[in-house]
Amino acid sequence: MKEQITSIQAEVERFPIGNESELEQFRIQFVGRKGRLAALFDLLKDVPAEQRREVGQALNGLKNLAEAKFEEAQSQFAGAGAKVEIPHDLTLLDPISQGSLHPLTLVRARILEIFNRMGFSVSDGPEIETDFYNFTALNFPANHPAREMQDTFFIEKGAGEIQDDVLLRTHTSNVQIRLMQHQKPPIRSVMPGRVYRNEAISARAHCLFHQVEGLYVDKQVSFKDLKDTLYHFAKEMFGKDTKVRFRPSYFPFTEPSAEMDITCLLCKGDGCNVCKQAGWVEIAGAGMVDPNVLENVGIDSTKYNGFAFGMGIERITMLKYQIKDLRLFTENDVRFLKQFS
Ligand code: DAH
Repeated sequence: MKEQITSIQAEVERFPIGNESELEQFRIQFVGRKGRLAALFDLLKDVPAEQRREVGQALNGLKNLAEAKFEEAQSQFAGAGAKVEIPHDLTLLDPISQGSLHPLTLVRARILEIFNRMGFSVSDGPEIETDFYNFTALNFPANHPAREMQDTFFIEKGAGEIQDDVLLRTHTSNVQIRLMQHQKPPIRSVMPGRVYRNEAISARAHCLFHQVEGLYVDKQVSFKDLKDTLYHFAKEMFGKDTKVRFRPSYFPFTEPSAEMDITCLLCKGDGCNVCKQAGWVEIAGAGMVDPNVLENVGIDSTKYNGFAFGMGIERITMLKYQIKDLRLFTENDVRFLKQFS
């Protein structure tokens, strides 16, 4: 009996298990209930009593050895059959997110594209500006209440000493002036950029936002040209069923002045919270360039005239994507940003 145990042990150790059928062979011979080890256990009762303990221990040792070898091989084959994950599969797509354009960047690009197709170039100007370009040249009289329409950030000269003629621009209209100083009519340009106002930050207002300014100066420009241009823009931007209306308004740098509304995209004109039940939302200020502005930059206002407009990129983006809180644009929350592409 002892000899049998020793020779079976040698067989168990040598038995090659390289595939599932060899595993099954091993199981039948050494692990199964009808296998050779089970047969030896049956013979244990015939072993003389004084040897039984020793033989029993040896037999149990062999049983444990065979079971351990079987389980180890079994776990290897089970792994292969169940297609476990391959840690470095180079054929898989890169799981790292690629990022996407900011919604304001997307909308700015779309606005510029629409005006480019109508023949408008793109111009740029400084965000730190002098009073002259931001106000005076645009026909804002000194101490006129119109300056208070725009809560201005002034730049500090020294410690605590405000320099009241250098400021963060409150609108992109400053670029109109710089452009007209450097270029003779005809001028047809759009001017995107960042603007600043001293406003408390809320869902509807921010101290930092973006505008696109437009300027068209030539001979015999009409109010109809202005309306056609902005109508076309609104339909391209928001869809051809969008309704548009002009309301009379006031800006120091245009005369006459108007504001353009479109039908509220959220309620389709029925009235909702976003449009304050009006059914319409304002998307741009506009008007015919005031002759004083042309004269301020040395353009003969008896020969040339023009139109101008200004629109907020945030406002247009909010309408287009139905975003209700302005603060989302500057919070860098990836859950918000990744929705745009
Ligand atoms: N600058 C105005 C604002 O910030 C927007 C504006 C209105 C621009 C009328 C214009 C214009 O060029 O003609 O509210």
